[in-house]
Amino acid sequence: MKTLLVLNGPNLNMLGLRQPEVYGRETLADVESLCQQAASRLELKLEFQQTNHEGQLIDWIHQARGRVAGIVINPGAWTHTSVAIHDALIAAEVPVIEVHISNVHRREAFRHHSYVSLVAKAVLAGFGSHGYVLAIEHFARELTPLARLCTTAEVS
Ligand code: DQA
Repeated sequence: MKTLLVLNGPNLNMLGLRQPEVYGRETLADVESLCQQAASRLELKLEFQQTNHEGQLIDWIHQARGRVAGIVINPGAWTHTSVAIHDALIAAEVPVIEVHISNVHRREAFRHHSYVSLVAKAVLAGFGSHGYVLAIEHFARELTPLARLCTTAEVS
């Protein structure tokens, strides 16, 4: 079974409490549960992590190298600031999908630039917690032929 790694950056442990008008009322535990449900439906193993410490996130990215099939990452505010996370994602040589709960492009100008988008195969912003599920489904389409058939059958 292939493994996906879902990584969350700073302040995302405050989901549900923090600016609910922007990020909604779901907690990070709710988001993890949605991700785990999607992964088990798609026959993928999923690891879900959050940290407020940039070095910890970089260590997890390094440890993903050669071990996981894809990284779904919501880097929080480090999206807009961290060359180190950008470099770590390149070093990991694992496909990356960047997810943001809010639509960063209709928010403050400082959120419009992402160091992570430069190394991501796709970016999802503004889908709320469903963005994580969409990213997992995309990896499943690429990784498991059975999931690809199921998705096609649902569409037709
Ligand atoms: C965020 C958007 C970032 O700009 C912000 O710093 C976050 C959350 C999002 O999920 O919408 O912490 O990544």
